Amino acid sequence: MTVFRIRINGRKLEIAAQEGSVPTILDAAKQSGIAIPTLCHHPALEPYGSCRLCTVEVEKKGRKRFVTACNYPLEEGLVVETGSEGVLAIRRMILELLAARCPGERRIQDMAIEYGVTRPRFLLEDESCILCGLCHRVCSDLVGVSAINAQNRGVLRDVDTPYGELSEDCIACGACALVCPTSSARRRENIYPLLASDIVELEAQFLDGTIDGDLGICRRMFAGRSAIEGQDGGMVTAILLQGMEAGLLDAAVVVKADKRYGAAAFLAEDADSILEARGTKYVRISVAPPLMEALQKGRKKVAVVGTPCQIRVVRCLQRAGYFSRRFPDAEIYLIGLFCFESFDYVRLKSHIDQLFGLDLAKASKVQIARGKFLIQAEGREHSCRVSELHELVREGCDYCGDLVSRLADISIGSIGSPEGFSTVVVRSLRGERLLVGLAFESQEVRREDVARLAAMKKKNAETNFAPILAGLEGLERERLAPAPSAICRQEH
Ligand code: SF4
Ligand code: SF4
Ligand code: FES
Repeated sequence: MTVFRIRINGRKLEIAAQEGSVPTILDAAKQSGIAIPTLCHHPALEPYGSCRLCTVEVEKKGRKRFVTACNYPLEEGLVVETGSEGVLAIRRMILELLAARCPGERRIQDMAIEYGVTRPRFLLEDESCILCGLCHRVCSDLVGVSAINAQNRGVLRDVDTPYGELSEDCIACGACALVCPTSSARRRENIYPLLASDIVELEAQFLDGTIDGDLGICRRMFAGRSAIEGQDGGMVTAILLQGMEAGLLDAAVVVKADKRYGAAAFLAEDADSILEARGTKYVRISVAPPLMEALQKGRKKVAVVGTPCQIRVVRCLQRAGYFSRRFPDAEIYLIGLFCFESFDYVRLKSHIDQLFGLDLAKASKVQIARGKFLIQAEGREHSCRVSELHELVREGCDYCGDLVSRLADISIGSIGSPEGFSTVVVRSLRGERLLVGLAFESQEVRREDVARLAAMKKKNAETNFAPILAGLEGLERERLAPAPSAICRQEH
């Protein structure tokens, strides 16, 4: 244990720290109940030092200077002033600039008023982002997805997705919106941050059934097996084929095997291409580009088969009017897959090769069941425990709490069903429509199996979100709680 003897605002303090670790001035102030305002700081992330609002004055060997408290390491004998005239003048100027930049941001305006800024002297372009960097840092450093990044320099500095396009990486976990000190992250149109309150709103807007506390909105649930040969009863394939035959669908966004990346989303416009996409792929694929392709090609009734995160992405875009503005007649049907986690295909392939001397690309069937990863290839079955593959799980999966695709019109997955069947959860009238006229065999679902795994996944995500939530001082944590996001099992 190391002890730093310092002075803050004339108070003598002894700050203890683990051997080898050095607290910052901000840490010491917090420990001692001394308030220092921050905007770009979050305790779960590395200090960034971009907003300068935490400026304090330090004195060392008789020399005074201004430093940022969030990233200035303590030194023995350090003397700190957190409220000197000079410090207050710097903070006032920063807040005056931010207040001029963000006239609609309550938190910024309140802070500015606290520092005596009632009417900023500057005229700046109306913005909501203060470029604090919290959103892209949480996305890359904690969630691990890096859907957004800081771009450009100086006055052109911005936070955005690559080329400003719709993100193909965002998993709609909501972490960026949680940490953003303004409304900016939530307003961005090319990422999809969803909070718990958004999920409730989206369920009310798109789904129609009774609420099942563990599994979301549910009209009915059964174990189904179609006449079509497919993994776990081929229910997804059967629904798509039947939808096309009945004229309910004219295209479907599905995921098919791809030698290089394991799987790729594509637009299926006939029965053959739907059949081509049969089989489970344990990778996460963005479905937004082929959906746009379908709509741009004039397809009006499109089904999207996706993992919970991809279903959330589409719902988020639907709520923002992204599709209806461009394609007012489009009808989108969402078939969500149960998904516990997805794998990095390249690493998984090399691991399987090392483990069994097998080329994963040549496997006839890949399945996760009863905690095992099962591969059928060249007439033999190989297996290992799923827990052994944890290192290969895709970034972001640990921040996802939605096993059962809660926002889909129909959710489908093998958990809870007998061998050769799939659990089907119908969540909306639109989902019911997809089942009209479909021939399938039906059995009871073991609901508790699905609920147990759903709870496990949710708890895992909550544990990972806990440090993010813990750092949101003074904010309404409940409203902000992370939404059960997603990850993936591409099953067909
Ligand atoms: S919602 Fe999650 S994945 Fe998407 S940009 Fe925000 S932090 Fe990244
Ligand atoms: S969007 Fe929010 S979190 Fe991201 S840089 Fe802007 S103000 Fe900061
Ligand atoms: S909180 Fe220290 S620079 Fe922003």
